Order: sequence, then structure tokens, then C-alpha cells
Amino acid sequence: MNIVSILLSLSLSVPVFAIAADTQSTSENTNGSEIEVLHWWTSGGEALAVKELKDMMKEQGHNWKDFAVPGRAGASAINTLRIRTLSGNPPDVAQIKGPEIQEWGAQGFLTNIDDVAEQQSWSELLPRRVSDYLKVDGHYVAVPFNIHRVNWLWANRKVFEEVGAALPQTLDEFFVAAEKIKAAGYIPLALGNEAWQEATLFESIALAIMGTDDFRRAFSEHNSELLTGSKMRETLLTLRRMKQYTDANSPGRSWSDTTSLVIEGKAAMQIMGDWAKGEFLAADKIAGKDFVCLPAPGTANQFSFNIDSFVFFNKDNPQTIASQKELATLILDPEFQREFNQNKGSIPVRVDIDMQNFDDCAQDAMQAFLRAAATDNLVASLSHNMAIGRASQIALFDVISRFYNNDNVDIDETLRHVRAAVLADKL
Ligand code: GAL
Repeated sequence: MNIVSILLSLSLSVPVFAIAADTQSTSENTNGSEIEVLHWWTSGGEALAVKELKDMMKEQGHNWKDFAVPGRAGASAINTLRIRTLSGNPPDVAQIKGPEIQEWGAQGFLTNIDDVAEQQSWSELLPRRVSDYLKVDGHYVAVPFNIHRVNWLWANRKVFEEVGAALPQTLDEFFVAAEKIKAAGYIPLALGNEAWQEATLFESIALAIMGTDDFRRAFSEHNSELLTGSKMRETLLTLRRMKQYTDANSPGRSWSDTTSLVIEGKAAMQIMGDWAKGEFLAADKIAGKDFVCLPAPGTANQFSFNIDSFVFFNKDNPQTIASQKELATLILDPEFQREFNQNKGSIPVRVDIDMQNFDDCAQDAMQAFLRAAATDNLVASLSHNMAIGRASQIALFDVISRFYNNDNVDIDETLRHVRAAVLADKL
């Protein structure tokens, strides 16, 4: 898909003026060269994590101009990026990840950063599964920050204790706990009704019900029978069954406001990637004591991965190029990797970082990652742009959201639409 057709596929529900009004562009006043960075890290934990990088750049004499576009796990930021690029005004740096890196690289927008990769010996530092995403035609064009696990459940310990419910390991146990929590007057499952949050939940349920092999065969190999089969049906029905355990104020609520419900003890659980941990930590909550992290029900052996990365747009100004290279270098700095990932909730992307000072959840994530890699249970995240391209993702989110939000939407028709959505990238 080329950039023009990508632009044409932009959701019309996001008018350009709304995007412009929603961005947060700020510039620190230093004397050095300016580098404009477009990203979507604006929640409490995210902002704390990226602040470290801004500070390090400033210390090195570079002036970070922040172009933050909040919302929809990056979908708004990517829309803005496309518009700016098409009007000939791309930022110097942008947050892009997964297969989309290839799409932008193939269009010739991105700078080759092989020199930084060589200088820091990336081939020895990064797992192969990670580095494959970062290259176009064998050349590095993106730098990775982290590895997020998507299939997590976050629980408020006090609510569980008060209600006398057991932390759920399986989907059946989830529904038993949810009933108890609901009867006690708490919200069992915190969910914001944004399509990507619903899709994130769908992904964890699909992993549990389909298992790793069928999940991959369906979403990565586009197996028609699996895309419309009985396990997909059960996944959708389980998703819809969970709705009765969510609250009436879910529509439109951001993921971080949704996490706050668990932090404040109004809700018992959220099924969300480990950027949610960043919110608990930013609210001074302690892993294991105030909140518990456990694999999303039925997915203990699996690890759905989501890698954040920055790319660098081709620029002529030598000062800008120097700032881009400096930024690329700092992201893989060991000290930054420790600081950033402790705040962000993810695990370091470098294989050589000592995990000793990381909390229990991060240690568990690292163990889970290594175990999943050894047993072939690592899967690229469906809902966070690692497994499918943007066209399929937009279509699939739409299909899942329609089904979840409207009980009259027919399941057979939805299954056909799931298949069509997953194939949309190939059109
Ligand atoms: C994900 C991203 C995470 C986190 C999350 C919510 O797609 O990879 O870093 O920011 O969105 O904004």
C-alpha cells in the first residue's frame, strides 16, 4: 500500500482540524539545534518515561521540540504524521512500529542508521525477532525502545481480598471472580470502549481460546477456516460475554483513565499491555502489594509482544542529522534502557541489561519472554500493529467493535468480516 492510498484510507471520523487542535507541540529553550519528535506518549507513566530522553538530549545540547498527539494508542499520531508528510513537512523523528516501518521505508522517507547500529553492535544486543522489524532492504531505519507484553491482567489486590475472589488463571475462573466482584458492587472489568482497547481484550481472549499455533495461522498466515471457524466464534462470544462485567461509563474512556479505576479500587481488573503498569507506578503504587500483574486468563505460556520504536526522516540540515544520530544512540544507552523501561512498564530491548532492580512484574515479563521464545510461544501483537498492517488493523478493529457494542450484530456475518478485514492488507 503506498502513502497516497494510506491517506485515502484515513478514518473520516478524525477531521484534520480535530487533529491539529489535539496536538501538544512544545519546545524547550536551549541554544542547540532543534529536533522535532512526533509521538503519542502523553499519559502519566508514558510522559515520565520519555522525559528522561528529553532531558538527556538537552544535556547533550539538542533542543527537543515535542509534537505529541495523544489518543487511540497512536492511531491519531499516525494520521497526523501522514498528513504532515504528504504536505511536505514531516517531523525529524516519529514513533512508528511493526510492519508500518517497512511501508514508510519502502516509500523512501526514512534515514539509514546502519552507522549507529554498527557503532553500538546492535546485531549482538538485539534479539533477531526484534531487529527484523527495524530494517528495510537489510538496512536499519528504526531504533527500538523496549518489549511490551500485551497479554496481561492488572488486578487491585484489596478489592480481590475484600470480595474473597481468587485471582483468575483461566477464562472460566475469570467469570467466577467477575460474578463475585459484581455482586459486591465493584466494577469487575475496567474497559474503555475505544476500538483498540476492545481489540486488545479480543487478542488476549483469542490467544487463550485458539492457542499460539492457530492464532498465528489465522492472523499471520490468513487461514480462512480458522478466521471463520469455531474457535474464532468462541472468542467473539467470550468477548461479548465480558461486557456485562464492565461499567456504563466505558464509552470513549481512555486506557489510562480506565487503569485509574483499578488504581483507585473502583474496578478489580483490567486486561491491558504493561504500559498500564506505568500508570500504577506514576501513582506511587507498588507491584505485588497494591496491585498484581498476572498473565491474561489462559495465556500463561504465551507472550504477545509489542515493540516501540522511533524512525528518522530524511533531512538535509547537518545539525538535524547530528541530532537524529545522537537520539538514536541514546535510546539504546544502557542507563536509559533501565530508567525508561522501569517507568514505561516494559522490559529492556537489549539482552544484556541486568534486571535486578526491576520489580516483580518486569522480572515475570522477562521470564515469560524467554520461556515463550524457547517454546515457540512468542506472538506478534495483533492489536498493536506488530502482526498486521494499518489497513487490516483499521478494518478488524471496526468489525470487533461493532460486534462488541451491538448485540444485534450477527456472529456469522461478523466472522466473514473478520476474514475480510485480515485480508485487507493484501488489497
Ligand atoms: C501502544 C504503545 C505503548 C503505549 C500504548 C498506549 O501501542 O506501543 O507504548 O503507549 O500504545 O498508548
